[in-house]
Amino acid sequence: MQDRLGDIEKEALKGIIASKTKEELEGLRVKYLGRKGILTGVLKGLGNLPKEERPKVGRLANEIKARIERALKERLSGLSEQKGPRVIKGFDPTLPGRSLRLGHLHPITKVMNDVCKIFEGLGFSVAQGPEIELDFYNFEALNIPPDHPARDMQDTFYVDEKVLLRTHTSPIQVRTMEKMAPPIRIIAPGKVYRCDSDVTHTPMFHQVEGLMVDKDVSFSHLKAILTYFAQEIFERDTKVRFRPSFFPFTEPSAEIDIQCVICKGEGCRVCSQTGWLEVLGAGLVHPQVFRHVNIDPQVYSGFAFGLGIERIAMLKYGINDIRLFYDNDFRFLSQF
Ligand code: DAH
Repeated sequence: MQDRLGDIEKEALKGIIASKTKEELEGLRVKYLGRKGILTGVLKGLGNLPKEERPKVGRLANEIKARIERALKERLSGLSEQKGPRVIKGFDPTLPGRSLRLGHLHPITKVMNDVCKIFEGLGFSVAQGPEIELDFYNFEALNIPPDHPARDMQDTFYVDEKVLLRTHTSPIQVRTMEKMAPPIRIIAPGKVYRCDSDVTHTPMFHQVEGLMVDKDVSFSHLKAILTYFAQEIFERDTKVRFRPSFFPFTEPSAEIDIQCVICKGEGCRVCSQTGWLEVLGAGLVHPQVFRHVNIDPQVYSGFAFGLGIERIAMLKYGINDIRLFYDNDFRFLSQF
């Protein structure tokens, strides 16, 4: 009888440890301890045993019953704990972690890099010049003498009579030609300053200047290079138009338009119903500019161009207020 009780206990405990669900555990409780359970049956049959064996077997059966009950209880709490998050003293290790916010380049820097990469791919190298500039480089050497009406085109911040914040990147043309003999192929990216502020103007903005000087450089080289550039920075099939214009430092001069990126030439508010958007100023270097830097215009010719980075970024990304670039609003900047 005692051996049989030992087997019942072993079997019951094995089943309890292996159980996977509360339902399974309840089944085991009924099987061993229920009204018609195995252990209950043994206890009920105690009366049939010889009188002197009854107390010993009875005590053993009760001890086994208690051990099975304890095992059931422990297993039950083990199964309940496995469900849901395991909370350790108010800390939930199953919650997702906080990710770090990665920074990125400002949209103006991105477009600037894109523009430079296109020209670098064509063999142009990057030149630089000072933001605080002499009147001579910003105006005079570019064929804009003191009383020239073209000075009114640019609202200049003057430091004193001879020193100013450069109003364009064109003075870098002159500084480069002073230092370097042809052949020259440079671009000059940088900040420029004008006393102007509205939805399309900020007092500081960015330009890229381009200059190529060699023997036999012609307007067709200019056309080919700027058409290629426009189709690289905008869409491959962008239509480009060269329109006669005036700049004191180029002759002939042109403004370059692309077909409106918004309406595709149909005419809309952005392009003032013309179907075209102006993106570049350019022309063949004026002989007078060559003379200032001692390059013989009878031997050499060249082209120059200038473009505004903010304008290109606005058209590329469909931004209607230039000031958004400099408000440092995360909701705006995080879109790039
Ligand atoms: N410097 C001009 C401006 O800021 C842009 C420009 C026009 C530059 C024609 C050039 C050029 O080199 O050839 O409006």
